[in-house]
Amino acid sequence: MILLAIETSCDETAVSVIKRVRGKNIRFEVLSHKILSQIDLHAQYGGVFPALAKREHAKALTQLIAEALDEADLLVERTNTFHLPLASRKKLDTLLEREGEMLSAMKIMVEGIQKPLIDAIAVTEGPGLEPALWVGVNAALALHLVWDLPLYPINHMEGHIVAGALIFKDDIYDISPINFPACALLISGGHTEIVRIPKLRSYKVIGKTRDDAVGEAFDKVARMLSLPYPGGPEISRLAERSRKEGLIVDEDLRLPRPMLHSGDLSFSFSGLKTAVLTRIKKRESLTEITKQMLALEFENAVTDVLIAKVKQAMYESRANTLIVGGGVSANTHIRFALKELAESESFDLFIPDKDLSTDNGIMIAATGLLHIGSDVEPKTKLKANGSWSVEDC
Ligand code: KG4
Ligand code: ZN
Repeated sequence: MILLAIETSCDETAVSVIKRVRGKNIRFEVLSHKILSQIDLHAQYGGVFPALAKREHAKALTQLIAEALDEADLLVERTNTFHLPLASRKKLDTLLEREGEMLSAMKIMVEGIQKPLIDAIAVTEGPGLEPALWVGVNAALALHLVWDLPLYPINHMEGHIVAGALIFKDDIYDISPINFPACALLISGGHTEIVRIPKLRSYKVIGKTRDDAVGEAFDKVARMLSLPYPGGPEISRLAERSRKEGLIVDEDLRLPRPMLHSGDLSFSFSGLKTAVLTRIKKRESLTEITKQMLALEFENAVTDVLIAKVKQAMYESRANTLIVGGGVSANTHIRFALKELAESESFDLFIPDKDLSTDNGIMIAATGLLHIGSDVEPKTKLKANGSWSVEDC
């Protein structure tokens, strides 16, 4: 079973090809893994612009698919001239009408190469930026049309959960068996959610943010501190330096821990962001030391809240396992605090390797395999859905 996966929900165009290998668990090897980041482009605007993201995905995706197939040794060029039948060509024209440069690139690719030896296509259908999602969805539909392969629409947040449960050993990824009930903490640029997972592929959102996502707050605070986008890694770097130097945060720069005592599992990070701004305004100038203190205090405040809510969720759900996912799970301090909590509360903890924390194609491919292994039916119609909850997948 060989699977091609496509991910275009935000600012990374990602394509992976994976091959299932025998074993009791769902196991696979990665034949190719391609990511094209748009970060540099969006950095100049301090955040992701949906229309720009869409255009860049459309420009890059077909080439990336061809490169991924080539790297996986599945790309065979045609020696004879081949034209798509008129009916397929017309359908392709209609399907890719809105995808700009992707239409001509796709036609050239599918007429230039033979149908590759893949068995299915998995594609992110949501949540995310809808214009960006449509590019991946339409590319998958186009390949389905031409190559007649089964299609598996994947929820991006389920992808982050599955990425969290992957264990890599001897060049093979294993979707680790989970001791249920479990909870997942999903922390990314667009989401902050705690999900209860009573059994395999069953998800209930039990806590979420009322305003900004945690990654969004990292990015916005970084901007206030004149740090480049994406701000998460930058704040983390400054905060780590402060810790190493034993820096004590000035009293007037201390920040609140929003919703810490709310009693429920809701988060709110927009007030924290405003609090940072108020602290900055009180100072005459934003010195390097002030920046370091604010980065440290902000990261500590976020971590305190995340840890308290996760602890409560684990307790209330009687959960044996915590799975962490999303870009912010790359944060060193948060990872460390979660590990400490897992030890003191004696639960199993799964956090993805840092390269699988942020968006990638492997997480979508692995989730595709999980669907196939769970007898989920493939779809022939797809529709990008920017706000698709993991509960409904
Ligand atoms: O999951 P992801 O790649 O994309 C979304 O689906 O949103 O997450 C991106 C987010 C960004 O907000 C970025 O600042 C944050 O993850 N991030 C971090 C770190 N690395 C990435 N936040 C805190 N610390 C990090 N080391
Ligand atoms: Zn993500």
